[in-house]
Amino acid sequence: MCKPNVRPRVAHFSSGPSAKRPGWTPQVLKGALLGRSHRSKPGKAKLAEVVDRHRHLLGIPADYRLAIVPASDTGAVEMALWSLLGARGVDVLTWDSFGAGWANDVQKELKLKDVRVLAADYGRLPDLTAVDWSRDVVFTWNGTTAGVCVPNGDWIAADRQGLSIADATSAVFAMALPWDKLDVATWSWQKVLGGEAAHGMIALSPRAVRRLESYAPPWPLPKIFRLTKAGMLIEGVFQAETINTPSLLCVEDALDALAWAESIGGLQGTIARSQANLAAVAKWVAASKWAAFMAENPATRSCTGICVKIVEPWFLGLGANERAKAVRDLAQRLENEGVAFDIAGHRDAPAHLRIWGGATVETSDIEALLPWLDWAYGELKAQALKPA
Ligand SMILES: Cc1ncc(COP(=O)(O)O)c(C=O)c1O
Repeated sequence: MCKPNVRPRVAHFSSGPSAKRPGWTPQVLKGALLGRSHRSKPGKAKLAEVVDRHRHLLGIPADYRLAIVPASDTGAVEMALWSLLGARGVDVLTWDSFGAGWANDVQKELKLKDVRVLAADYGRLPDLTAVDWSRDVVFTWNGTTAGVCVPNGDWIAADRQGLSIADATSAVFAMALPWDKLDVATWSWQKVLGGEAAHGMIALSPRAVRRLESYAPPWPLPKIFRLTKAGMLIEGVFQAETINTPSLLCVEDALDALAWAESIGGLQGTIARSQANLAAVAKWVAASKWAAFMAENPATRSCTGICVKIVEPWFLGLGANERAKAVRDLAQRLENEGVAFDIAGHRDAPAHLRIWGGATVETSDIEALLPWLDWAYGELKAQALKPA
C-alpha cells in the first residue's frame, strides 16, 4: 500500500499530556504571574479564576467544594481515598489499569478489610447492578487504558448511604457528569483541555464534606492530603489558598484552555468535538478488516482514550510479548513518518492502539491519521508474514 497523501496537521494523539488546543502558542502565557507569590492578591485571583471557570463550565453545583490540589489526578484521588475511606465497607470497581491501582491502594496500602473488588477484563465493565450503595464506591468514570467508560450515572443510587468517589480525569469536558450522583470527582488539567501537568482538581459534595468533618481515619495523613483541621474543613483550600505552591505558568495555561473551551460553546462544545472524534474512528473501524474497538459495548466506548485492537488471525496467533512488540513497531512507523505520536496502548493492557479523541484534537487530524493506520498495519503485516 502506498503512503497516504494527507498528513494530520497536528500529530499529537497522546492520552496525556494531550494536544494543546487549536491555535495555542507560547504567547498565551505572556500574562503569567511569574516570580510572584501564589498567595499574593493577583496570584490568588488567578487561582480563584481557574476554580470558578471550571465550576461554571462543568456546571458544578454551588454547594460543592472545588479545589486545586497537589500531584495531579493521582494526588486528588489518593487524597480522597486516604481522607474519606474506612468509615464504611468499600466497593471498588475496576476495568483498567488505573482502577486496578486504586483497588490495590484500598486493599494493600490502606489495608481496609471490608473491601469488595468488582473487576472486569479489558473491554468490559463489571456488573454495575452488583454495587452495594450502602458502602463507599470507588470507580474510574473512564478507564483510559481500556477505552471503556460508564455509559451514564443511572446505576448510581440517588439515595445512596455510601459515597461515590470517581476518578474522572479522562471524562471531564468529554462526557456529561451527573453531579448529583458524584460525591467526589477528580481530574487534572492535561487531559481533555490539553493543559499542563502536576495539578489536580477535586470536587466534593456536601455529603463528602460531612464525612470529612465527622470521621477521622485511623492512619496518619501527609500534609498534602489534609483537608481538615481539628475536625473542620479547611475552607481556605476551597477558596484558592492551595495547600502548597502551584505553578503560575501552568495556571496561566489552564486559564487559556478554559477560555478556549468557553469560546467553542462550553461543555456542549467540548463534548461534541470529542464525540465527533470517536465517530470518525468508529466509521473507519466499521469498514476495517483488521481493527476493532477494545470496548465491546458501543454504549461504553470512550470518546477520549479510544482503544483499538488488532483482530486478524496472524496477529492473534502471536504471544502477548510479540503482540506488544508488533504494536510498538506499528506506532514507531507512524512516529517516524511524523503522523502520530504516542499511540501504542498502555503497557498494562493487552496490545492495542490508543488514539486520544479529547476536544483539543481536531477531527480532521483523526481523519487524516486513519489511512496511515492502514498503511502502517499493512507494512507490519507484510513484514511479519514475509517468508524467512
Ligand atoms: C483514569 C486515570 N486515572 C489516573 C491517571 C493518572 O493521572 P495523573 O498523571 O494526572 O496523576 C490517569 C492518567 O492517564 C488516568 O487516565
